[in-house]
Amino acid sequence: MREVAVIGVGNTPFGELWEKSIRDLYVEAALKALDDAGVDRVDALYVGAMSSGMFVDQEHLGALMADYIGNYHIPAVRVESACASGGLAFRQGYMEVASGMSDIVLVGGVEKMTDIEDATFALASAADQDNESYFGATFPALYAMIARAHMHKYGTTRDQLAMVSVKNHKNGALNPDAQFRLPITIETVKKSMIVADPLNILDCSPVTDGGACAILCPLDMASKFKGKPVKIIGSGAATDSIALHSREDITALKAVRLSAERAYQMAGKKPSDIDVAEVHDCFTIAEIVITEELGFAERGKGGPLVESGKTALDGEIPVNTSGGLKAKGHPVGATGIAQIAEIVRQLRGEAGKRQVNNPKVGLAQNMGGSGASSITHILEVV
Ligand code: COA
Repeated sequence: MREVAVIGVGNTPFGELWEKSIRDLYVEAALKALDDAGVDRVDALYVGAMSSGMFVDQEHLGALMADYIGNYHIPAVRVESACASGGLAFRQGYMEVASGMSDIVLVGGVEKMTDIEDATFALASAADQDNESYFGATFPALYAMIARAHMHKYGTTRDQLAMVSVKNHKNGALNPDAQFRLPITIETVKKSMIVADPLNILDCSPVTDGGACAILCPLDMASKFKGKPVKIIGSGAATDSIALHSREDITALKAVRLSAERAYQMAGKKPSDIDVAEVHDCFTIAEIVITEELGFAERGKGGPLVESGKTALDGEIPVNTSGGLKAKGHPVGATGIAQIAEIVRQLRGEAGKRQVNNPKVGLAQNMGGSGASSITHILEVV
């Protein structure tokens, strides 16, 4: 297997982008990534998207995006793994370059979610339709059940859930591309509209339009291009039962733990080696459980971890410096690549006001559904 580098990243601003179509979003992100890398051709393209058919009535995204970036005879593949579609597209592109099949690969993700009234219905199609969605158990409801169980089993508090949102909104306020750039308090979270008890609207990631892309090439070819390379040293993917009721313990996210263990093993790293992380905080409880599964805290101690300040921008292990899904926004197919873009910027020292102190190793964890799929990548400065 060849060593692979990320040599360029780019993304659109995230938010309600009424004036931009799904192809505009992907192409804008792709052109920014190509420009950042300093390349003018790609050998293949991947696009992660969860549900473009339900959101904007558009399928066949591989060919569409290849056509609209002006490189339309290349192989082009759409990848779907619910909200982990972007992370999985990144992994597929990584494997294509590592295998020697292609040299320069564009990996991206996109979602245009605000054009329809009922985004909740489209999102719920990534849960178990027959056993969950059909009975009204949408994602806010499923994560509310996880939160209640975690509070009951480990004593996680309402305030600790809110602290995740407060931290991520504080970081998002420093990110010019974030959907919400508004610092908030614990009280604001607790007084915001209830969505599914104990989760209020400020515990939830929003509905978002956006695109993100990255350019990959073999590490030994990276010096030919202008983009400052960052090496991919670990990639892990895993799945779990799609429905919560089939799991032994709904306070755990086994696919996250397995994807992380596989990435750590491949990279030869352990949790204490990670200097900065982007994780899938689709709901505040998700960040708490994920930090446990990644080994940043013991099981059941994700709440005390956020309360300690260790995951803050100036903490021991800053988590979601971009603002996370909560504040930066969550255009589902794009999220996994946007996480990679943040880690690349942090490792290059290009994260502006949210730059952490001299990070060497970063981790990006992207999750599908209520934890039925998870992809973890570990990146290192060259
Ligand atoms: N965080 C902060 N503010 C939010 C928000 C969020 N998650 N969602 C909406 N808002 C704001 C809007 O910007 C709007 O503000 P404005 O009045 O100043 O314009 C206001 O709240 C109402 O927005 P609206 O779109 O009417 O909210 P909604 O009730 O339709 O949707 C949720 C709110 C929480 C139901 C929706 O954001 C949601 O479904 N989130 C979860 C998405 C999800 O499940 N993703 C997949 C994860 S696995």
